[in-house]
Amino acid sequence: MAESTKNATLTIDGTSYDLPIYSGTVGPDVIDIRKLYAQTGLFTYDPGFTSTAACDSTITYIDGGKGELLHRGYPIDQLAGKSHYLEVCYLLLYGELPSPEQLEDFESRVTNHTMLHEQMMNFFRGFRRDAHPMAVMVGVVGAMSAFYHDSTDIADPWQREVASIRLIAKMPTIAAMAYKYTIGQPFVYPRNDIDYASNFLRMCFAVPAEDYQVNPILSRAMDRIFTLHADHEQNASTSTVRLASSSGANPFACIAAGVACLWGPAHGGANQACLEMLQEIGSVDRIPEYIARAKDKDDPFRLMGFGHRVYKNFDPRAKVMKQSADEVLDLLGVENNPVLQVAKELEKAALADPYFADKKLFPNVDFYSGIILEAMGFPTSMFTPIFALSRTVGWISQWKEMISDPQMKIGRPRQLYQGETLRDYSDIENR
Ligand code: SDX
Repeated sequence: MAESTKNATLTIDGTSYDLPIYSGTVGPDVIDIRKLYAQTGLFTYDPGFTSTAACDSTITYIDGGKGELLHRGYPIDQLAGKSHYLEVCYLLLYGELPSPEQLEDFESRVTNHTMLHEQMMNFFRGFRRDAHPMAVMVGVVGAMSAFYHDSTDIADPWQREVASIRLIAKMPTIAAMAYKYTIGQPFVYPRNDIDYASNFLRMCFAVPAEDYQVNPILSRAMDRIFTLHADHEQNASTSTVRLASSSGANPFACIAAGVACLWGPAHGGANQACLEMLQEIGSVDRIPEYIARAKDKDDPFRLMGFGHRVYKNFDPRAKVMKQSADEVLDLLGVENNPVLQVAKELEKAALADPYFADKKLFPNVDFYSGIILEAMGFPTSMFTPIFALSRTVGWISQWKEMISDPQMKIGRPRQLYQGETLRDYSDIENR
C-alpha cells in the first residue's frame, strides 16, 4: 500500500476523525475507512459499490472519462492491433511482455493442457440438449476441481501456476464441447499444431466428415475478440471471483462463480441480449420506437450494448470491435448485413439523442461483438461462453494477485438493517 500523504477529516456529533488518503500511480485517490467502524461505530453505505475501491491492483487501469483501458500500462488499442491473446495472457499473469523464449514456453505450456480429462465428457451428456452453453460451462468448470486435485492447493505457488495454465488452456475446449453437445455433433479434440484462436474455431466448426481449414482473417478476428475481453479491473464477475477466493475456495470453484456472474444480461450476457435486440428491431425505420422505449422511465427496456458503470465516454474496446466488424463482414461478403445496418444507425441515432449524451451512454464492448460472432457462424447462446473463455485470464490474474497478497482477508461486507427489531415468537394458535 502506498504511504498516506494527506488525511480526510470526518466530523460526527462534534468529534473529528482523521482518515488516511492514499494515491495510486494514476486514477482517483482513496480514503482508508478500515478503522471507521472501530472508531465511530458507523458503516459506510455504498450498494453497487459505485464509490468503493475493494482492493489494490497493478493489472488493469480504466479511465471512464477518457475512455482509456490499460493492461499493465499498455493501451488496449495497441494490444489489440499489435499483440495477440496468449501474449496478452502472459502480460496479465506476469506483469511484463514476454521475450520470444518466454512466449514460446508459455504458448507450449498452454497448448499441452488443452485436452480435458476423458471422463469429463460424461458431464456434458448429463445435460439436456437444449441447455444453455453457459449452464454447461458453470457445471463443467466447477467439476474441474473434482478432476484436477493436484492443482487445488492455493497455498502452493506451483499449484496456483498449474491451475492458471489449465484454466486458460481448457476453457476453449469446454466452450466448444458445450456448443457441439447442444447441436448434437461429436466433440472435436484440440490440436497442438494450430494457434489458440484457430483451435477454438476448429473445435466449434469442424466435423469428422471433412477437413476444416481455418480462415486466417476469422482466426485473427477471433483472437482480437479474446484480447478485447481479457480483463477489465474490478467488474462484477471479477469481484465475484475475488470474493469467492477470499474464503480459500479452490480456483476452479471460484472461476465457476465468475462464469455464473458473467451470465447476467447486465454484464457478460449483454452481447447475446444486444444481438437479440438488434434482430427484434429488425429494420432501421423501427429504431425511433426503441429509442423512445429506452428513454421511457416506465419501460424497463434498456438499449443492450449501451452504457457502462465506469465508461462515461466511448468504451475503447467498442471502437476496435467496430473496425473488426467491418473487416469480418466485408470478408464474408455480408457487409450489407441488416443487423449491422441497424446497429450502425442505432448507434448514430442514440449518440445524437440528448438523453444518451446527457447520461453519457455510449456503445460498450458488447455492442458490436455479437455482430461479428453471428457473422462467424456462432449462435447467440455462444456469445457469453466466448466472453467467459476470454475473461478467464483476467479472473485468474486477479485471483493470483489477491491470493499472494499477505493482507488478504475474507470479504465480509455489512448492511444497513431495515427489518423488524427484537420480538417474541407467537404460537400458531395465537396468530
Ligand atoms: C459489461 O463492469 C465492467 O467492466 C463490465 C464489462 C467488463 O468488461 O467486465 O465492461 C462488461 O458488462 C458491459 C456492460 C454490458 N451491459 C449492457 O450493455 C446492458 C445495458 N446497460 C445497462 O444495463 C447499464 O448501462 C449498465 C448495467 C451497464 C450500467 O448500469 P448502471 O451503472 O446502473 O448505469 P448508470 O448508473 O450509468 O445509468 C445512468 C442512467 C440511469 O438512468 P437514471 O436513473 O439516471 O434516470 O442511464 C440509464 C439508467 O437507467 N441507463 C440506460 C442504459 N444504461 C443506463 N438507459 C437506457 N439504456 C441503457 N443501456
